[in-house]
Amino acid sequence: MKKITVGNWKMNLNLTDSLVLAKNYVKEFKDFTGTAVACPTFLALDGVAKVLAASPLKLGAQNMFWQPIGAYTGEVSPADLRDCGCAYVIIGHSERRQWLGETDQMVNQKAKAALAAGLTPIICIGETLQQNEQDERENVLINQLRQALNGLSLNNNQQLMIAYEPIWAIGTGQAITTKDADEIHGFIKAYLRKIMNSAAEINLHLLYGGSVTANNAPELARLSSVDGVLVGGASLNATEFLRIAQAFNK
Ligand code: PGA
Repeated sequence: MKKITVGNWKMNLNLTDSLVLAKNYVKEFKDFTGTAVACPTFLALDGVAKVLAASPLKLGAQNMFWQPIGAYTGEVSPADLRDCGCAYVIIGHSERRQWLGETDQMVNQKAKAALAAGLTPIICIGETLQQNEQDERENVLINQLRQALNGLSLNNNQQLMIAYEPIWAIGTGQAITTKDADEIHGFIKAYLRKIMNSAAEINLHLLYGGSVTANNAPELARLSSVDGVLVGGASLNATEFLRIAQAFNK
């Protein structure tokens, strides 16, 4: 299975710096043959799309709304993302759940709308440190997945990504151990096989996110249970992001 590397730039860069980073990506990735995705802010999408056009890199958004059009002040439709050149969209990132009150039900609506619009959703799930310490991780993840994927099935042309991002590992420099990643990814995959239709066997990818760097990427990439990574901080450096993407394109 082809592995994938997704860079989530979050709200870390202004417009000018987003374009500079996109240009650095293009330089670094000129001979890259795998799948790597850049996710800038909404405002930077259009400019970054133009910069990436002549490169192997793909474009993704960090969020979207579930309605196609209408009186939804401040929101952005999936169709507009497509028009901008996006192929992917991150949905339900823990930062949105924490700061914007995004619920599992909203994640479900967004995932369905993304698929309907021809975008590949990257649905984020993950437990807090407290939930992890109290041995609630598996229950939390099952609950999030059950609600996020409720009523959702894939056809042969659709892809879906789940990003397992333990909240305690995001931006902390404390990534999951390889052994733990393998165990929990195995658990998540077994659950997904139970609840999803058969197209999902091929078209569903399970990514890991949380303090991925060029140093820990090779070990994670070797795990057959890890189909790719969602990278925050380390995606802000084009050279490091390329090293991660190369590790996942062996
Ligand atoms: P990080 O962020 O790589 O900086 O930990 C990952 C994410 O939030 O997607």
